[in-house]
Amino acid sequence: MDKKIVYSGIQPSGSLTIGNYIGALSNFSELQEEYQCLYCVVDMHAITVQQDPAQLRKNTLDILALYLACGLDPEKSIIYIQSHVPQHTQLSWVLNTITSIGQLNRMTQFKDKAEKQKEIYAGLLNYPVLMAADILLYQTSLVPVGEDQRQHIELTRDIAERFNSRYSPTFEIPEIMAPKVGARVMSLQNPKAKMSKSDPDENGYILILDDPDTIRRKIKRSVTDSEGVIAYRDEQPGLKNLIEMYCAFKKTTPEEVVEEFKDQGYGALKEAVAEAVVEGLAPVQERFREIRGDKEGLEKIYQDGALRAQKMANKTLRKVYKKIGFIPFSS
Ligand code: TRP
Repeated sequence: MDKKIVYSGIQPSGSLTIGNYIGALSNFSELQEEYQCLYCVVDMHAITVQQDPAQLRKNTLDILALYLACGLDPEKSIIYIQSHVPQHTQLSWVLNTITSIGQLNRMTQFKDKAEKQKEIYAGLLNYPVLMAADILLYQTSLVPVGEDQRQHIELTRDIAERFNSRYSPTFEIPEIMAPKVGARVMSLQNPKAKMSKSDPDENGYILILDDPDTIRRKIKRSVTDSEGVIAYRDEQPGLKNLIEMYCAFKKTTPEEVVEEFKDQGYGALKEAVAEAVVEGLAPVQERFREIRGDKEGLEKIYQDGALRAQKMANKTLRKVYKKIGFIPFSS
């Protein structure tokens, strides 16, 4: 039996936070053993909001290097850049012809992003159709993404089902693989909101590539409460978030953390959390610097990834073109 396909993508539109690391990246390497995984840097999605070209180039290579630094093995997984595989836009066009504008208008991520734009361009509205093409091209079974992407996965399933019933079974119907509970890292300044790199207050988030002193400073300044008791409960969301961060890096449980720190102050807990994060990220940061500095090595990996991805993508695209009635053409 062939292995099931796992597919995920990250936009090269900015730096990644430890929320991205704990909720997604740190789990990707485990999946490689059981599944055929594809990990894409979705540069074509990134341009649905305006990007500076030099920054986009840098961010794209940064995400590639981060994938590798987090343990993805290019021998096992297919790691590539979306714009290197033209089949994504080719399938996306076909899927656009069976996607309702009404449904696209109801996507919450579209509504949020559109609010911030002076002029709303078609690419922003059609973003989820390109995402559906990413996923469906590879006959993906599982998509490891955050809860915020659930609506896009539902849309992908709707589109796939529509195509399958209009023509004949063509696409595998994918499922979301949502992160475990506790994998949602909250803002250090407002623990009721998700940690986000677009937070205007940079003390709210920690980047994967933040240096140790920055990490220590941000955790020290994090918002807690005036209870003065170390406990793991919803009523103390700041503390809860710190405890969960500690657990993620130290592979322990909230109960054990509370037991260990219950007779100490918040300051001691914060110091321990900071050290856990600094230590946990150190090997990732070190590998990142090494990999990111090896331009040729990196280039070889994304070239090879794109060729392998193209081969898989072409199989699906050919079937699709044939079913809709396009005349086959062999180049
Ligand atoms: N929309 C996703 C995000 O913002 C990124 C993405 C694009 C993606 N294509 C994908 C994720 C395909 C999973 C699979 O996080």
